[in-house]
Amino acid sequence: MSGVNEIRSAFLDYFAREGHEVVPSSSLVPRNDPTLMFTNAGMVQFKNVFTGLETRPLPRAVTAQKCVRAGGKHNDLDNVGYTARHHTFFEMLGNFSFGDYFKERAIELAWRLVTKEFGLDPGRLVVTVYAEDEDAGQLWRKIAGIDERRIIKIATSDNFWAMGDTGPCGPCSEIFYDHGPSIPGGPPGSPDQDGDRFIEIWNLVFMQYEQVPGARVPLPRPSIDTGMGLERVAAVLQGVHDNYDIDLFRALIRACEDITNVPADGPHRASHRVIADHLRAASFLIADGVMPSNEGRGYVLRRIMRRGMRHAQLIGAREPLMWRLVPALTREMGRAYPELLRAEALIAETLKLEETRFRRTLDRGLTLLDEATARLVPGAALDGETAFRLYDTYGFPLDLTEDALRGRGLTVDTAGFQVAMERQRAEARAAWAGSGEAATETVWYGVKDRVGPTEFLGYAADRAEAVVTAIVREGATVARLEAGETGLVVFNQTPFYGESGGQVGDTGTARAPGVSAHVTDTQKKADGLFVHTLTVDTGTLSVGDAVELAIDLGRRRAIRANHSATHLLHAALRTVLGRHVAQKGSLVAPDRLRFDFSHPLPVDAAELVRIEDLTNAAVLQNAAVTTRLMAVDEAIASGAMALFGEKYGDEVRVVSMAHDETGASYSTELCGGTHVERTGDIGLVTVVAEAGVAAGVRRVEALSGAAARHYLAEQDRRVRGLAHILKATPDEVLARAETLVEERRRLERELVDARRKLALGGSEGGASAAKDVAGTRFLGRVVTGIAPKDLKAVADDAKKAVGSGVVSVVGVAEDGKAAVVVGVTDDLLGRFDAVALVRRASEALGGKGGGGRPDLAQAGGPDGARAEAANAAVEAALADA
Ligand code: ALA
Repeated sequence: MSGVNEIRSAFLDYFAREGHEVVPSSSLVPRNDPTLMFTNAGMVQFKNVFTGLETRPLPRAVTAQKCVRAGGKHNDLDNVGYTARHHTFFEMLGNFSFGDYFKERAIELAWRLVTKEFGLDPGRLVVTVYAEDEDAGQLWRKIAGIDERRIIKIATSDNFWAMGDTGPCGPCSEIFYDHGPSIPGGPPGSPDQDGDRFIEIWNLVFMQYEQVPGARVPLPRPSIDTGMGLERVAAVLQGVHDNYDIDLFRALIRACEDITNVPADGPHRASHRVIADHLRAASFLIADGVMPSNEGRGYVLRRIMRRGMRHAQLIGAREPLMWRLVPALTREMGRAYPELLRAEALIAETLKLEETRFRRTLDRGLTLLDEATARLVPGAALDGETAFRLYDTYGFPLDLTEDALRGRGLTVDTAGFQVAMERQRAEARAAWAGSGEAATETVWYGVKDRVGPTEFLGYAADRAEAVVTAIVREGATVARLEAGETGLVVFNQTPFYGESGGQVGDTGTARAPGVSAHVTDTQKKADGLFVHTLTVDTGTLSVGDAVELAIDLGRRRAIRANHSATHLLHAALRTVLGRHVAQKGSLVAPDRLRFDFSHPLPVDAAELVRIEDLTNAAVLQNAAVTTRLMAVDEAIASGAMALFGEKYGDEVRVVSMAHDETGASYSTELCGGTHVERTGDIGLVTVVAEAGVAAGVRRVEALSGAAARHYLAEQDRRVRGLAHILKATPDEVLARAETLVEERRRLERELVDARRKLALGGSEGGASAAKDVAGTRFLGRVVTGIAPKDLKAVADDAKKAVGSGVVSVVGVAEDGKAAVVVGVTDDLLGRFDAVALVRRASEALGGKGGGGRPDLAQAGGPDGARAEAANAAVEAALADA
């Protein structure tokens, strides 16, 4: 039977012929749901369509959806590698009806596809229905003629599907394939249903409700959502029992076998499978813009990658392995998912870097693990502290540790791990904060349904007439805004750019006879509304009023220059640093621009100079900036840089500017922003900062136009000011400053020396002041202005000056405290101990203790006024000796 790629196409084509719109897979990072970590089913991108918040031109759709089930309600990570059908990444084929057909047609379509198109023997199919759903059973009998015994009623949640804790849900009916009595396992609902004989291939969900916190409410219209795991159905169609034996997985596993020379079906079978599965999940996540990190989605990605990398090490790969499998993956899946091809360099770079880093701690961590578990017997658990240490110090995610112990029948004390982990957890939670889009704001979908999307005129116009179509205040629609009030205002059309793609929203004014108002921000809502934050200064603004809108043109010009400069910088970064550079975020404001991009290392000074030079060379070409409207596929085929994971409409704007030495376009990007007419309008670009913002992500900040000139002029003024102070020309400033710093260091050294000498009373080191105490020469000194750390040097000098004897130097600081150092010359070491002597001095100073060596010891005390007494105490000790 056909390969995975043919089965996918056959499914899409079948439903296209049945009047379904073929909709591309949405990103693995859900755009419309702040509660969901990853897209985990085909219906996710249509969630708001089911609940009626959003409408689509066609009421039927079909997709092959990328899904990840690792983390969250549906989490399969731990099982991958050890079972025949678990994956972290998989494709879900599904057909959808948004209030169009319901159960009967859904069952008809499904039955025909599996029995006619796919040619499965109807005698081998079994279906389940939700116990309370009488219709479904009857329909199966009527449409498929299935015998009563093969329609199994299931009363559990297995046949009631829900997206998550909230969202659309409903009873479902599943189609199972029976591999026959030679395979162990019982029918669904029986005690041995988990065997391999009966395999679920398709889930038809009769979407009827929406689960909201605390209640289940009916959807506006009954709908259909179905999900067929592509890998499972391929296994059935290819006559294998195991998903990892389908053509796609065989190809990936063979590539791994070729590189490692480790047979796929020998003792390392599970590792090969883990690597193949995790390669897919990691690559698709990276292609959708997720980067490994220690929190949120990035951490799930890291866990998947590291689990795969440990298995690479297990099968004996000496060098990073996973990145070398990327070409095999793109060969198998790149045609169906072109985002993989576009991100190929980034995927390989990211995998390679992660595996290189992880290998540094992997061996040491595994040794620690072996030691910690050496005496454990099967069934025992590794203590949570060690598991946490492995996590924290060696980068072992918990599931990796569990996976590593699994073969020996050991587990981990996860409760103990959680305790040790709690603090970090709290931090990660705080940082996670649900990324993705802010909660879907119901009010805006209502407004959009009523008034339609806003037409944006701002590519060509700076001002325009418009009619007020809606006003929202404090979350509810109102009819008017009085003078002094601020509200969110929608017009039928607008020249105000709504914040998106990093470019900030426009500001400006709105006027009508007797009314004047100002706009302080513009945002996009509900996929097509432009919402103006507007304050009425005089008069009353009402729904239905016609107004004259005008953007703040000076501000917008600066924004345009910064946006075009961002594109040129992006192109220069790719030229200088490499094609793995991909945009990770950007801010285009009137006064500055910021651009985040994937790159593993800091950008050095020489690279920055080249990046600035290339960017400004493109500015100087003064080339026309061209914008074309193209179909997404066409645009990407023409080489336009698209943002990974970004959702684009059917038609996209493709912005090109400047040209390279071959005459080809220098920068081409999919971009909805506003741009200068000619690159010369940017004036000048200067990079003012470069820094790391996250693992593998760098940020440059730059200025353009007048802001760049002001910045450079200010820098120039500073240099001139410095030159004036240093009595040098600007050219000489650097060398002069270096000389000055050097000279200052020398002077400081000299000053310390001079103070030391002075402390001991001039050039002969105070030797003449030494007195004879019971046959020993003793020199006692009180000094000021010497730092405690320099006192030892003074005492050393004094020792040299007396030749043979004992010295005691008390330094009194400005705050009145004292430090004391006592020295004994080598010839007297048998007789006197500096440590004992310094303690006497310290007592006199009101201090305690002291320490050092027999020849030189130091102590301190609070009472500097008793410095002379301290020396006298040492002298007295000599006299007593
Ligand atoms: N949404 C349903 C599932 O994921 C089809 O099984």
